[in-house]
Amino acid sequence: MLRLNSDVMDSRLRGNDVDMSGDAGGVSGHGRVVIPGAGRGSSPLPPLVLDGQQVQLLSVALDDQPLAEGDYRVDAHSLTLHPSSAQFELAISTRIEPQNNTALEGLYKSGGMFCTQCEAEGFRKITYYLDRPDVMSRFTTTLIADKGDYPVLLSNGNLIASGEHEAGRHWATWEDPFPKPAYLFALVAGDLVLIQDSFTTMSGRTIDLRIYVESENREQCGHAMDSLKRSMRWDEEVYGREYDLDIFMIVAVNDFNMGAMENKGLNIFNSSCVLAHPDTATDLAFQRVEAVVAHEYFHNWSGNRVTCRDWFQLSLKEGFTVFRDAEFSADMNSRTVKRIEDVTFLRANQFAEDAGPMAHPVRPDSFIEISNFYTLTVYEKGAEVVRMLHTLCGAEGFRKGTDLYFERHDGQAVTCDDFIKALEEANGLDFTQFKRWYSQAGTPRLEVHGHWDAASGQFSLLCRQSCPATPGQSEKLPFVIPLRMALLDSQGREMPLQLLGETVSRGSETVLAVTEAEQVFTFAGLAEEPLPSLLRGFSAPVKLSYPYSRDDRVFLAMHDPDGFNRWEACQALAVDVMQGLVQIQQAGRPLLPDQRLIEVYRSLLADDSLDPAMVAEMLRLPSEAYLVELAEVADIDAIHQVREGLRRALAEALRADMLRVWRRLQIAVAGPFSASAEAVARRSLKNTLLGYLMLDAADDMLAACVRQFVEADNMTDRQAALVALVNSPFEEQKQAALAQFAERWQGYPLVMDQWFSVQACCSLPGALERVEALMAHPAFNLRNPNKVRALIGAFANQNLIGFHRGDGAGYRFLAERIIELNTLNPQIASRLCTPLTRWRKFDTARQPLMREQLQRIMVLEGLSPDVYEVVSKSLE
Ligand code: ARG
Ligand code: ZN
Repeated sequence: MLRLNSDVMDSRLRGNDVDMSGDAGGVSGHGRVVIPGAGRGSSPLPPLVLDGQQVQLLSVALDDQPLAEGDYRVDAHSLTLHPSSAQFELAISTRIEPQNNTALEGLYKSGGMFCTQCEAEGFRKITYYLDRPDVMSRFTTTLIADKGDYPVLLSNGNLIASGEHEAGRHWATWEDPFPKPAYLFALVAGDLVLIQDSFTTMSGRTIDLRIYVESENREQCGHAMDSLKRSMRWDEEVYGREYDLDIFMIVAVNDFNMGAMENKGLNIFNSSCVLAHPDTATDLAFQRVEAVVAHEYFHNWSGNRVTCRDWFQLSLKEGFTVFRDAEFSADMNSRTVKRIEDVTFLRANQFAEDAGPMAHPVRPDSFIEISNFYTLTVYEKGAEVVRMLHTLCGAEGFRKGTDLYFERHDGQAVTCDDFIKALEEANGLDFTQFKRWYSQAGTPRLEVHGHWDAASGQFSLLCRQSCPATPGQSEKLPFVIPLRMALLDSQGREMPLQLLGETVSRGSETVLAVTEAEQVFTFAGLAEEPLPSLLRGFSAPVKLSYPYSRDDRVFLAMHDPDGFNRWEACQALAVDVMQGLVQIQQAGRPLLPDQRLIEVYRSLLADDSLDPAMVAEMLRLPSEAYLVELAEVADIDAIHQVREGLRRALAEALRADMLRVWRRLQIAVAGPFSASAEAVARRSLKNTLLGYLMLDAADDMLAACVRQFVEADNMTDRQAALVALVNSPFEEQKQAALAQFAERWQGYPLVMDQWFSVQACCSLPGALERVEALMAHPAFNLRNPNKVRALIGAFANQNLIGFHRGDGAGYRFLAERIIELNTLNPQIASRLCTPLTRWRKFDTARQPLMREQLQRIMVLEGLSPDVYEVVSKSLE
């Protein structure tokens, strides 16, 4: 059913024409291989060792000569041949069982369709091959299938021929003119409908754009298509990058381990990252689709045209591409809100990874299973590192650097050092010290103190940096930390920045480069004592501390001209208040929240001129996960009670203010649904307020919430009402809403994912029992990664009080699911281990209970390398 033709090109292996064909589950390939430099002189040719796993070898032929069994050697992960010349043609037939491939790596079946996921090392599960990213080939692929069941046959590049066979079968041949590593190979065969559009590139070429989905999803592709066209335009405008093939395809599949995959010309997406319709997807889901479509499209240059030499360089393409998609989203939506969302996510999750047993540098220096290193550190921290480079080069300098990078390395497989070198050369900068961000793990701490000297009008910032030890790295050298900052006067205005020893003023905002373990920056000529606004826009992924008083934070929350830092001050104030309350709670004294926090919120609610999306962000209390991350040893019970108690106290104290704004927004969003930024912002604040108002719901509020649930014409409002009801004490309304929702949306798997998640995240007593019951629901399926994430993942990662219940039943439950998934889908099993690996963060009663479950997994027979790596490292 599949015939591939590839052209092996590499520093060690060159050739052309690998051609594979076979029938259902059968793959055969042949190709011309050239081993450069080999065979000259008298040195014997080295053996050729091809990667291959879980494939049944049917035949091998060298230059048309079938090989006998003694001519080659096969083991569980390779095929070794002994070619007698440096150039030869190799033909290999294998048989595989895509229908039994529950790991979703290689060629597998999702519903009625065949599809592939080859990154990082999935191609070797299709056929024997040099499965490494620096071996680049030109692929030609022929698919042969039953026409009735699989009318659509796709692969990378251009369709060059197709036709009919006897007995209802048909075939299609695709040719990709660009040499590529096997991880970018893809094929799809299925019964799909097509949504088509086109894009005219900056040089005037017309590109055929296609999104393939199952027919019932036809109406849900418009947003992905719009996002794709905007991404293509943006990459031309901001990076000068034009698309290179004549066709660009996206296929949506329901069973997918990650978000999506950037296969050349044929992106394969988790349906959750393509499908979006106001009726079924929330505003957040719309934003995610836009970001993932952009991310995969941007990979065409940052990943495909220029790829990675080896998997240690993964952040070369991922960090850079996450940075690119974040900037795209910032340009399309509110820049400040996007930054707030990303920083919130990074601090709650990547910081925890950096502080845990799996901590690794952005460029890891060892791994057992590369799939375990598609991490928040490689992706999100990697993007922060690229953002710092952007800050240090400036937008123009950064563009010069990336132009040089793309030009110099087009068609090559390169390293993070090559990327840095291009930026250095284009800007005349030296990033030798900066590169420590790639090699040293852990989140640096930046401790800053201010010193005001009234007599001289000078203000000094004393900066001290350090970085905690991480596995295998006890000592760290100082990082280069770009510290974006301003000084504010007593009116909140930015003061002119004149650094002592510099002749030119720095204007009213500057970036200080902190490069030493200890360093002082002195500003002169100040008329009054300033209040510093530090690390604006989160200019470096560090833990900043500055001895602000609560009054200082209130001042910054109200007056900092920088929107991001206003939010940050508000967050820091809330963190400070909650940390104080945790201590009070532990001492058994009554919880009385700081009135200043309430008054900050009151003034935010009073100011109708503010962006509602920003107000929503500021009203959102820091998450339990973030408070856990900040604590040395987290008292999860106290954290939960304090946070819930504070939410209630805020709802009570600000009830009138919240009601007023909520009513105003009700009117503002009335009328037909709109997806505009303004409408999204209003819904965000309106629903944040609904959450608060329902904490202390009088009958009219409950009725309003039920009405919103029933009458909403969009999923954002419907889901927000469902969340409020599910977390309320109103059992009858809650059960009615859940039942109605399931009834209405049972045919929509992605909507049912939301239904599972809302319940998994409900922290009311009995959470584990509810989750266990939901596992038996007909819409649940352990083989579908989206379902696992929606129910089990959401419970273990977000419902901290439910998961960490004192008797350890949450841990046992998770371990059992990990053990089941270890056989079915090791990648997903390994991801699920994360909450257990964080055992050191919890109290002495919980630690042994968590470790017990890790040990239980550890001794499992048939433990996958994926799970073994994570569990063994966490027990070290
Ligand atoms: N390169 C893909 C992306 O970030 C992710 C592929 C992940 N694959 C895996 N096996 N972990 O867009
Ligand atoms: Zn990516």
